[in-house]
Amino acid sequence: MSMSVEETQAPREGFPRPFPNTPSNVIEQFRMNGKAIIVNGAADGIGLAVAEAMAEAKGNVALWYNSNNAAVVRAEELAKLHGVKTKAYQVNITKPEEVQHGISKVVEDFGRIDVFVANAGMADSKPLLDQTLEDYRKLMSVNVDGVVHCAKFAGEVFRNQNHGNLIITSSMSAHVVNVPVDQPVYNATKAFVTHFGKSLAREWREFARVNIVSPGFFNTKMGAGPTIINEAYRMTPLGRQGHTKEIKGLYLYLASDASSYMTGSDILIDGGYCLP
Ligand SMILES: NC(=O)c1ccc[n+]([C@@H]2O[C@H](COP(=O)([O-])OP(=O)(O)OC[C@H]3O[C@@H](n4cnc5c(N)ncnc54)[C@H](OP(=O)(O)O)[C@@H]3O)[C@@H](O)[C@H]2O)c1
Repeated sequence: MSMSVEETQAPREGFPRPFPNTPSNVIEQFRMNGKAIIVNGAADGIGLAVAEAMAEAKGNVALWYNSNNAAVVRAEELAKLHGVKTKAYQVNITKPEEVQHGISKVVEDFGRIDVFVANAGMADSKPLLDQTLEDYRKLMSVNVDGVVHCAKFAGEVFRNQNHGNLIITSSMSAHVVNVPVDQPVYNATKAFVTHFGKSLAREWREFARVNIVSPGFFNTKMGAGPTIINEAYRMTPLGRQGHTKEIKGLYLYLASDASSYMTGSDILIDGGYCLP
């Protein structure tokens, strides 16, 4: 039962917490100098754009990939271009031991982890009745188990450091049943990670922030395919897919001190798709 006004008058020990010791200049708040950021799914698409954003803001970036070793070259390019430290790591997020090992390698190489961007995911855009149980399990193992593995082992580092920041790439498909393709399992995996992230924001309230990004259609390998594209344009008020450069600012905001009062938020970036 909620408390009466009288019952709420006793001050709580330790509250209010102090304001963070962060710059008041907003441009300074966005700087990532000296911070270590892991981005997975970083060889291409949204993950690569996020890795670029972090390096452009002078963060040191660990680019995780699974099968696309273009991440190795991308890491070298970013280091050269922006004068930051980068390294590529091959980590299959469905394998907890690989994630645990990958995290300890990054701590060994970079000395810390300030931000983990759990961005890797896969699509298997099929109706349930056309999907095998094997397909279902594969999707769950990447989109759900993979995010849980990353959060668990990154969270242990955050707790030991007494600071950290987890950003999860979910989807507008966690908000709406998007059309025209039925893909209930994909949609549900994204609903899982959105609520998982919000719940972790509370669990980790003493030492880390957790936020969620929910993209609409972005022009990547996982963006709207040929059977979807016309409906994607019609249903999106801005009339197009997003370019990956248009999502960089949001991840940088969430990764940086500019968002220090934000945790447990889920931000849609979808050209207005979820409006109607
Ligand atoms: N594009 C969109 O329209 C859209 C919309 C909403 C949400 N999203 C979400 O955005 C995220 C990034 O997708 P994207 O659009 O940038 O497409 P993408 O370029 O295909 O990125 C997906 C990434 O996930 C990685 N990945 C897949 N399985 C993995 C595994 N077992 N272990 C580690 N990494 C694995 C892939 O790595 P490798 O290539 O190295 O194998 C790939 O880099 C995904 O979570 C996706 O669900 C995308």
